[in-house]
Amino acid sequence: MPKAVKVAVLGARGLVGQWFLRMLDGHPWFKLTAVTSHEAAGQRYGDAVKWMIGGSVPEGFRDLELVESDPKKVDADIVFSALPTEAARKLEPEFARAGFTVVSKAAAFRLDERVPLVVPEVNPDHLELVGRQEWDGAIVADPNCTTTILALPLKPLHDAYGVRRVVVTTLQAASGAGYPGVPSLDLIDNVVPYIPGEEEKVRDELLKILGRVEGGRVAWASIEVAATCTRVPVLDGHLESVYVETERVVDVGEAVELLRGFRGRPQELKLPTAPEAPLVVVEGVDRPQPRYDRMAGSVPGMSVAVGRVRRGPSDRSLMFLALGHNLVRGAAGSAILLAELMVAEGYV
Ligand SMILES: NC(=O)c1ccc[n+]([C@@H]2O[C@H](COP(=O)([O-])OP(=O)(O)OC[C@H]3O[C@@H](n4cnc5c(N)ncnc54)[C@H](OP(=O)(O)O)[C@@H]3O)[C@@H](O)[C@H]2O)c1
Repeated sequence: MPKAVKVAVLGARGLVGQWFLRMLDGHPWFKLTAVTSHEAAGQRYGDAVKWMIGGSVPEGFRDLELVESDPKKVDADIVFSALPTEAARKLEPEFARAGFTVVSKAAAFRLDERVPLVVPEVNPDHLELVGRQEWDGAIVADPNCTTTILALPLKPLHDAYGVRRVVVTTLQAASGAGYPGVPSLDLIDNVVPYIPGEEEKVRDELLKILGRVEGGRVAWASIEVAATCTRVPVLDGHLESVYVETERVVDVGEAVELLRGFRGRPQELKLPTAPEAPLVVVEGVDRPQPRYDRMAGSVPGMSVAVGRVRRGPSDRSLMFLALGHNLVRGAAGSAILLAELMVAEGYV
């Protein structure tokens, strides 16, 4: 077990920030030393936060004083960024220049050639890109929530059958838009069939994640990706209906076993936030469902639930549904797992 690593959360009052605090409470390696805010700097966290994720503010964090997102005000080894994209574009390099390792939930640098975009079970080797960065510290990106939930089941299928085309339709939870998010009158009794920028993020990020590092760069995977992203009146948990075409013939029973047996580097290393299995295959023709399956996994919310795995129209195709908690596996949990991987592999 490494010695205590000091961590900070930028944007700690937001929805992702709140999940960071919940998942860092009692963490065996990470000690939370700083929380930042744009509008509430100077206030006590317990007074300034509108806690929206159930339960209550962790006891030990209530008295932390919120500070501005300024490297001089933060004492930490790792900085988790839960900032909006534009703020991240400005602030994350300031932290990296000042020597911090920034693990970011924001989109600002995900497609930057120097920045690894990592799902810990899928492409841990991409972390070597950190060596190309000119900062004293580093920026490492955690993907968009929808992409992470898709990349996990695609990885074992791609390795076994060679995925050449993916068509995905998503039903994304309200909390995915942050707080206050989509106005209630737009979402209740409704489905919004468009999320600005999301479909491009899913395509580009997936191709980078499933790509290979060659000569210090990521050669993106050559897969055709077509995404339709919708917002539905579900609180937490993104459901994704996936159709995959492959180079090789798919045996459905074998594919189910591949999904069920999939393990990655975090499981090998037994990282504290790693679930025993990153994918849980749920039985029953009416699963997965957000209310029942979003907290799947031995670390609740850290596994993606996969169900209705079935053959598509040809024997080189497969269809399934994947569901993941957008704020846990899609956000705070995956960023914490990524930071654990970096510590265990000697990057921090
Ligand atoms: N929600 C999800 O499911 C999800 C999933 C994956 C990734 N993400 C990404 O994670 C990030 C945070 O998402 P969220 O849902 O937690 O958003 P959010 O609820 O809107 O929270 C954003 C936080 O950033 C701070 N902030 C706002 N403007 C700022 C500025 N100009 N400078 C410094 N800090 C500023 C706010 O601080 P104060 O309110 O304290 O002033 C707030 O705490 C976003 O980049 C988002 O795209 C979200």
